[in-house]
Parts: sequence; structure tokens; C-alpha cells
Amino acid sequence: MSKFLVILYVVCLAASGFVNGSIIKKEKDQIRVFELKKGDLTLKVTNWGATLISLLLPDKYGKLGDIVLGYDSPTAYTNDTQYFGATVGRVANRIGGAQFTLNGIHYKLIANEGNNTLHGGPRGFSDVLWKVVKYQRDGDRPKIKFSYNSFDGEEGFPGDLLVTVNYILSEEGSLSIVMKAKALNKATPLNLVNHAYWNLGNHNSGNILNQVVQIFGSKFTPLNDQLIPFGNFSSVKGTPYDFLKPQVVGSRIDQLTKTNGYNVNYVLDKNKNDDNEVKVAAIVTDKRSGRVMKIATNQPGLQFYTANYVKNEKGKDGFVYQPRSALCLETQAFPDSVNHPNFPSTIVTPEKPYNHLLFFKFSTTHAPHGF
Ligand SMILES: *[C@@H]1O[C@H](CO)[C@@H](O)[C@H](O)[C@H]1NC(C)=O
Ligand SMILES: *[C@@H]1O[C@H](CO)[C@@H](O)[C@H](O)[C@H]1NC(C)=O
Ligand SMILES: *[C@@H]1O[C@H](CO)[C@@H](O)[C@H](O)[C@H]1NC(C)=O
Repeated sequence: MSKFLVILYVVCLAASGFVNGSIIKKEKDQIRVFELKKGDLTLKVTNWGATLISLLLPDKYGKLGDIVLGYDSPTAYTNDTQYFGATVGRVANRIGGAQFTLNGIHYKLIANEGNNTLHGGPRGFSDVLWKVVKYQRDGDRPKIKFSYNSFDGEEGFPGDLLVTVNYILSEEGSLSIVMKAKALNKATPLNLVNHAYWNLGNHNSGNILNQVVQIFGSKFTPLNDQLIPFGNFSSVKGTPYDFLKPQVVGSRIDQLTKTNGYNVNYVLDKNKNDDNEVKVAAIVTDKRSGRVMKIATNQPGLQFYTANYVKNEKGKDGFVYQPRSALCLETQAFPDSVNHPNFPSTIVTPEKPYNHLLFFKFSTTHAPHGF
């Protein structure tokens, strides 16, 4: 009997491996690149993970450059472990202990970073094929809309969920990413993130330590050794986390020995004299290229990460990315919110859909005299 069970188990494992393998092969054949173009800004995305592949725009001398890290081939993203440019979900960032309780039901997830669940689990939204619902390459309002049907129990999360991600070039020098979701039958935690790695000096220009960052967050959520929030808030005042005034990224980064750089969630401040729910979250300036990027969002938090875990990563044009070669500025809900009732709720229900607004505005400082 037990021998029979073992054989049955082996047969089932083999069958599931086969099914999995062939699905992945079938999906790989459907991976495509899509381009959006407006003025001198060109964006490339792929339906694998609804991922931002490249963003080409001029520097202050008018020279075009690609300012996001990534790979040459879209199928290379199926191997990615850094989440380059991906749409991350169902719950981006960490869930402590890979578990949570919602409406009296205890949900056990798959731990894929120590005891915790990171970025939706081993196969989150960044690792699936999305459907292309609308695609307009150029014209007045270039746009692509991806959708994904996440099923009840996928990676352990409750309920069917319909997710859409829109990349829109609405104005010159602007990019909007609008992420929406609707729970179809059960309540679920949700935290979608665009995980672009930015380097305003070009993806292959080396480290970002001389770039200047301003983050409109006067508090952050302190983390334990496993990068899970304690649940309290700390002032940035007098710490290396203070970017309320523009600061060179490298000025205090070496004080962060535990994390080997920035990896922290900011509590974004509300705009003064303005009750608009969309607020400016961060501004990045690169003096050398003259590029400036301004980020606005309706989300409560911003994860600031300096690519600390990126090491010997073979990227575009044969360039090899190293730690601190990019900035991630991920607008989002606070990490592990589902286990911290005092954090803004990340629960979506059939009555309460999700709407994440993320706006980028790109500009350049003036070229020196003579250009
Ligand atoms: C994925 O990684 C494996 C192992 O490193 C490699 O052999 C394969 O070519 C990679 N696939 C793609 C599409 O890059
Ligand atoms: C995971 O949890 C176990 C049991 O609580 C603990 O012994 C172990 O140290 C934890 N692992 C990490 C990486 O923290
Ligand atoms: C937050 O909580 C941790 C753990 O209890 C504690 O060590 C830390 O001092 C607290 N920080 C603040 C600002 O309350």
C-alpha cells in the first residue's frame, strides 16, 4: 500500500512537472515586445509580467539613452530574479511568516525568502503571461493595457481577481502607469508595484551614487532583521533616510551596513495646501546627463531600494549590472500591511476595487553654454 502511494506520488509529481514545463514553453512562445512612442520618448514593454523593458529619452545634449535596467531579449525576463521593470503582485514586498488571517480565515502562503513571502510568492504576477487588451503604438495618446486573471488560491491568496495595468504616454515627457484590480468573489490583500530600476545616467552608466534624490516622506517603517516592519513609525530626522531636502544618494549610504544600501519604505507626506489624493513622492536629478524624473502617486508608501542585491547580472548590450547601479522608487502600500491593522488597509473586496496611480514626468536641465 505504502509502496503504491509512493509510486502514485512520483507519477503525480512527474505529471505536474510535465504540465508545468509544457505550459511554460507554450507561454514563452507568446512573449512579445510592444512599443509606445510620443515625441522623443520611446517605451518598450512585454506581456511577460507586464514588464517595462526600456525607456529611451534624450539627455540635456539631446542624446538618446535608455534609463531602465533590463535584458536584451524579452524571454530573458522568464529567468529574472531581480524583478527588473516587472509588475509585482499579488502582494509586492514582504508578508511576515508567509501567513495572514482575513475575515477569520488563516491563509498559509509559500515562503520564498527565509520564512517570509516576497513579491507574491515563487510565481507571482511578474512571472506570468498577461493578455494585451488594448494597444495603440503612437498618435495622441499611445497606450497599452494588459490584463491578468488571478485565480482563487493562486500562490495561496484568496479569491479570483481581475488585474489590469495600463502604460500611457499622455503628454510629452510623461508616463502614466495605472494599475487596477477587482476582487470577483472574496476579499484579498493586494499591493501592486512597478519594479523599474532607474538610472537617469543611462542603464549602463555604472553606479547611481552621485545622483540626487528627494523623497517627500518624513517617516519610515522600521524593519527587523528579516526586513519585516515592527509596525511602528520612525522619523527620518538625523538618519541616513532623510531625503526631505535633495541629497546625493551616496552621501550616507555606507552607514547602512545591514542592508548594504537603501531598502526602506517611506510614509509619504500629504501635500500641503492641497487635498488632492495624488502627491509628489520623489524627484531624482542626474547632473551629468541633466535628466530629472518626478514621481507622483496616490499610494501611501514608497520603497526606496538601491539595487543592493544586483550582482554580476548580465543585462542589455552585454553590460553587467552591479550593486547600486540603479534606483527603485516603488510607490506602494506599506510592507506586510495585512499583518499590521494600524497600517492603511490593503484589502480589496468586490465592493472596494483597487486603483493605483503612478505618474512620471521627465525633463532635462539646461545644457551648458555652447550647446
Ligand atoms: C535562463 O537561464 C538558464 C540557466 O542560466 C540559461 O541556460 C537559459 O539560456 C536562460 N534562458 C533565457 C531565455 O535567457
Ligand atoms: C524561521 O523560523 C524558524 C522558527 O521560528 C526560526 O528558527 C528560523 O531562525 C527562522 N529563519 C529565519 C531565516 O529567520
Ligand atoms: C519600533 O519598535 C521596535 C521593536 O519593538 C523598537 O526597537 C524601536 O525602538 C521602535 N521604534 C520607534 C521609533 O518607536
